[in-house]
Amino acid sequence: MTVTISIGSGKGGTGKTMLLCNLAFLLARSGKKVCLVDLDIGGADAHILFGLFEPKHTITDFLNRKVDTLKDVVHTLYAFNGLQIIPGTGNTLQTANMSYQEKQRLLRSISALDADVVLLDVGAGASYHTLDFFMSGDIQICVTLPEPTSIMDFYSFLQLATIRKVLGSFLSHSDVGNTLKKQNFSSLAEVFALAESTQPGAKKKAQQALHYFHPLLVINRDIQNTKVNKKKLKQLVAKYLGIDIPSLGEIPEDTAIKDALKAYIPVCELYPDSPAAKAIAQIAAKIEKILELFSKTSSST
Ligand SMILES: Nc1ncnc2c1ncn2[C@@H]1O[C@H](COP(=O)(O)OP(=O)(O)OP(=O)(O)O)[C@@H](O)[C@H]1O
Ligand SMILES: [Mg+2]
Repeated sequence: MTVTISIGSGKGGTGKTMLLCNLAFLLARSGKKVCLVDLDIGGADAHILFGLFEPKHTITDFLNRKVDTLKDVVHTLYAFNGLQIIPGTGNTLQTANMSYQEKQRLLRSISALDADVVLLDVGAGASYHTLDFFMSGDIQICVTLPEPTSIMDFYSFLQLATIRKVLGSFLSHSDVGNTLKKQNFSSLAEVFALAESTQPGAKKKAQQALHYFHPLLVINRDIQNTKVNKKKLKQLVAKYLGIDIPSLGEIPEDTAIKDALKAYIPVCELYPDSPAAKAIAQIAAKIEKILELFSKTSSST
């Protein structure tokens, strides 16, 4: 089975691409068939981190139907354990204007990729496209910096993601779906209240939609004296969004990351003993365990 892992954040520049490229590298090194898909609209740069400066094809070619299938835009990085990458597009307009049908076609093609693990870099922010790509993952990872502004953006990103998840759980032709579709919401509580007033019992259904939504939290560029109060953050998210955010790990601020970037080699390959690389390796080990659980669950059903 293929497991899809998406990575997102409220604010830009939190280290998503750096983390995802390193995870892709480590998972491929452990023998998994890995495909990294760069869905960052307007800011796609994952291929650069591997020194692939001029990819022959990008997702734009798939969206423009210059190629027949998504497989035609896959590049295999033989120097990095055969890791596969689908470079993103520099063509902002094409992807920003993606229609619903085009997005569905892209998501269907991603789910048909021949890989054990598909990693989706969805970019920053909470546009509909970004949220839909983020929510399409079997596992979601959220990255935040420890600063209060980044935490605030992280919280609103999660809030919008949960709202989108709940809205998506109501079929568009249902009464509740039709009512909800016409509104703009600023909190999950508002969605629940309107759903329940349209149809008694709808709140429960909405809450159930969040049952399996447990985005994993990564705090990046962690510095000793700015330690985030993780317990408080988790309590806040549990109370107001009704979801649990398990912690996947913390990555320290580390100059090795910039040095690796300049060498176009993942820090986990170039400086495996650096503090950041060790923290990322621990995160990868946790993900391997989660992947094992997925394969056990799928083989027992
Ligand atoms: N732990 C760290 N220590 C030092 N520098 C870091 C660390 N994590 C990331 N960086 C640096 O921060 C910058 C942003 O990282 P990256 O591009 O991965 O972020 P991003 O979340 O993908 O950004 P965007 O939202 O723009 O796509 C890069 O220059 C990267 O080298
Ligand atoms: Mg990025």
